Amino acid sequence: MRLNSSKKSLLIRKIRGIFAIMNFEAEIARRRTFGIISHPDAGKTTLTEKLLLFGGAIQEAGAVKSNKIKKTATSDFMEIERQRGISVATSVLAFHYKDKKINILDTPGHKDFAEDTFRTLTAVDSVIVVIDVAKGVEEQTEKLVEVCRMRNIPILVFINKLDREGKDAFDLLDEVEQKLGFQVVPLSFPIGMGYDFQGIYNLWEKRLRLFNEGNKTQISESIDFDNINDPSLSDHIGEKAASQLREDIELVTEVYPHFDPKAYLNGDQQPVFFGSALNNFGVQELLDAFIEIAPPPLAKNSEERLVKPDEKDFSGFVFKIHANMDPKHRDRLAFIKIVSGKFMRNTPYLHVRHNKKVKFSSPNAFFADRKEVVATSYPGDIVGLHDTGNFKIGDTLTTGESLHFKGIPSFSPEHFRYINNADPMKAKQLAKGIDQLMDEGVAQLFTLDLNGRKVIGTVGALQFEVIQYRLEHEYGAKCSYENLNVHKACWIETAEISHPEYIDFIRVKAKFLAKDKQGQQVFLADSAFSLQMTKEKYPAIQFHATSEF
Ligand code: G4P
Repeated sequence: MRLNSSKKSLLIRKIRGIFAIMNFEAEIARRRTFGIISHPDAGKTTLTEKLLLFGGAIQEAGAVKSNKIKKTATSDFMEIERQRGISVATSVLAFHYKDKKINILDTPGHKDFAEDTFRTLTAVDSVIVVIDVAKGVEEQTEKLVEVCRMRNIPILVFINKLDREGKDAFDLLDEVEQKLGFQVVPLSFPIGMGYDFQGIYNLWEKRLRLFNEGNKTQISESIDFDNINDPSLSDHIGEKAASQLREDIELVTEVYPHFDPKAYLNGDQQPVFFGSALNNFGVQELLDAFIEIAPPPLAKNSEERLVKPDEKDFSGFVFKIHANMDPKHRDRLAFIKIVSGKFMRNTPYLHVRHNKKVKFSSPNAFFADRKEVVATSYPGDIVGLHDTGNFKIGDTLTTGESLHFKGIPSFSPEHFRYINNADPMKAKQLAKGIDQLMDEGVAQLFTLDLNGRKVIGTVGALQFEVIQYRLEHEYGAKCSYENLNVHKACWIETAEISHPEYIDFIRVKAKFLAKDKQGQQVFLADSAFSLQMTKEKYPAIQFHATSEF
């Protein structure tokens, strides 16, 4: 059959269209966007570095941890971070491994920056939790996991530092189950520990992975071993360790359920791996299993509807704003997670809150050692958009639809102080600085109903210093603080504002009432006792611990 030229070009366009869709779907399917969370010092940075090494994203030979990577990694943008040696910023590290594009969203481990981590968790599709084998489940891990579980994020567990003496593997698995509410499924199991650590048995691939004797920084053997009852096991690890491993694996098989990928994706099962990030041991097992089982970009709920990644139209949301990364340019970078469709450079998109079209000439993609301008990004990717103060955390960008993605609500801060202007000539700069820092989510601002005084609320005391430093260095404004005795901020809800109880509450507690930045009514309770008494006295009023209810 011969086609005339118009039919031919129609056919070519159709075929091209089909290829474009297939390509778009393949790009989504190969993306894995996740965060690593842990209590400080459990080994999150070390594990991140080792993952980057596997991806060839950094070229650091051997297994020795290098401080140089820490210093040049993108997590070190801010001067204040360098000064304090605390990872204040949450950065993005992308790399390719096998046929996957992996986006690691780095999270600050320091508890004073927990809110930053909470917000980053709105942008991940899964999480790896790192636990120190000697310390077990620590406080910060519990808090972060709680937030993950609010969203049913799929979680993998990496138990680290097996080269050191630690807790018995079964006791630790118990602890993880009890403290984190997990249903664990070990996919690898250690052979010995500390001085006697010989390697791991990989239940996922049914392989023995053994350390190089005398030099625990290398894998000497990786042996297929699907029947650990085979007597030749003792040739590899010795008689004693072989019988111990057989016993352990039998127990694992009896006590823990089979790995069920669906249960993992629903947040109902948490696979566990053992290893030593510092010695590069067990990391590849983790990565190989991760790319196979971890979810590609997931659909996300907006107030209007569920938005799926493979929809044609673009949508995305701001989960982080990072200020003044380049000291020569006083701009900010808004980090956008792409939820659906393709994000293209120089294309007008709707800034939903402003109801205004905006386009971006130099959207940035982030890699371990560099950032670069990208023409097209796909769901799961993070792009950094230059911003001069138009974005707020939680803002949505779309091709045209009015969507509002649901995020993590604000929680009550732990520390409260009045903020005062210390340089009357710079009142404007101070107001602008405070406004922008709050949009970035550095802290929360409350304005007292009674006298309009401004109160800053933070998760950690350190943030007051960060704010003061940044106001001075980025906005040329000076502030001072004044102590304020507040125990907790509660968001207030009542069915009707004409209810006598509400009227009485507003009158009696006038001194303790404030508005948050969105204008929501907040009660600043000065003690746990007074909060309790107030709740009992006014049953018609609801006191919420978060800003969304
Ligand atoms: P974090 O990001 O979770 O805070 O932890 P980080 O990776 O910085 O690791 C904390 C400490 O634990 C580091 O030692 C690191 O070398 C060590 N570490 C990480 N993984 C392992 C492991 O598998 N085995 C052992 N034995 N140690 C491990 P440091 O002395 O605090 O820092 P550095 O001087 O090594 O940089």
